[in-house]
Amino acid sequence: MRFSGPRRPFRAKVVVPGDKSLSHRALFLAAMAEGESSIRSLGPGADVRSTAAVLRRFGVEVVADSVRSPGVASWAPPGEPLDAGNSGTTMRLLAGAVAGRPFTTTVAGDDSLMSRPMHRLVGPLRALGAVVSVSERGTPPLVVTGGDLRGTTLELPLPSAQVRTAVSLAALQAEGATAISSPPGYRDHTERWFHHLGLGELDAEGRFSVRPGPVPALDVAIPGDPSSAAFLWVAAAICPGASVETAHVSLNAGRIGILDALAAMGAEVAITATGDILGDPIGDVRVTAGELRGIELHGVDVVRTLDELPVLAVAAAHAEGRTVISDAAELRTKESDRIAATVAMIEALGGTAAETPDGFVVEPVPLAGGRVDCRRDHRIAMAAAIAATRGATVAVEGFDSVGISWPEFDLALEAMWSSR
Ligand code: S3P
Repeated sequence: MRFSGPRRPFRAKVVVPGDKSLSHRALFLAAMAEGESSIRSLGPGADVRSTAAVLRRFGVEVVADSVRSPGVASWAPPGEPLDAGNSGTTMRLLAGAVAGRPFTTTVAGDDSLMSRPMHRLVGPLRALGAVVSVSERGTPPLVVTGGDLRGTTLELPLPSAQVRTAVSLAALQAEGATAISSPPGYRDHTERWFHHLGLGELDAEGRFSVRPGPVPALDVAIPGDPSSAAFLWVAAAICPGASVETAHVSLNAGRIGILDALAAMGAEVAITATGDILGDPIGDVRVTAGELRGIELHGVDVVRTLDELPVLAVAAAHAEGRTVISDAAELRTKESDRIAATVAMIEALGGTAAETPDGFVVEPVPLAGGRVDCRRDHRIAMAAAIAATRGATVAVEGFDSVGISWPEFDLALEAMWSSR
């Protein structure tokens, strides 16, 4: 796929697709609840379909907006190994959900997922009482034989929302409460939803305590995905005279580090809170271009911006001064090694960037265009396309991988570029 940017500023309002993280969570909770749930505006990507597909194998009906389940206690054994496709969230949340079921579940995925770390789930799920194994390298297939779980106290070494959510789904099925702590910065969608649904709360020591019990059926509309909107926010930020509005997106603090980063770089960012979904904030965001300067990002700010770092690198190339990202070694464990893939993308487009062990450095060299191999990683494919916004021509090899999170991204991007 080839992109040639507009060469003129745009002013656009864009509806971004349903949030991927919330779509996975809503599907898992609805599948664990007994009865019928309604989930509107589910994310349209293949990852969300992977979650729906694995849940069907336990006897859960997922048809369009509707999920009908016998309740997790009555899930049927899935038989043959399950396929989570490209979706780490599907695999990890599934491991937690089946940890309390008295049967064996085996889950594998595509080549990318088969090389991603799963050992981070093993210790916590074993501590609750499940039997869990992964390959010697700590990668899938992930095999979980569930059983009688007992609540416990877990101190997790990583600020991983996926691990916290997996453990929380398991802990709902345990005898007694489970207290979970980890470093900060993770997206706390699950904790907010559990609190809203009466399934958990923050304890006096700041640990999240899961209260076992049945999950109620859900009736929710999923807001727009800030990780998708982020591509458009960066496009507006780097194009003098441009602005973009994205209404009704998740404003969870663990998701919008990119907006703080763009504001610190000099873009104009306006955020209006409009409501919530089960206690998790939602609102409208407008980003307007500014004179950008480089920044240094590390620590908790990196956790809050992690999925958006590839596209932030595009903004950094068009800034004054160098941008330095550190404490981001987790990027190497995503759909691709996103430190290597981001640096390769910037260089392929005529910019200057370098890897460090736990991040990357981007020099202020504007991207003139070129050909990028996105390494089958949806976020690299979309970040590369955004680099065409200032009039460059960018060819993206493997562009169809955007189907993982936003199948019609190219149409939305062209429409945004031509809005006045
Ligand atoms: C996600 C959490 C993050 C994020 C991933 C989705 C989630 O991963 O990178 O794209 O939905 O919980 P970790 O929790 O592993 O950091």
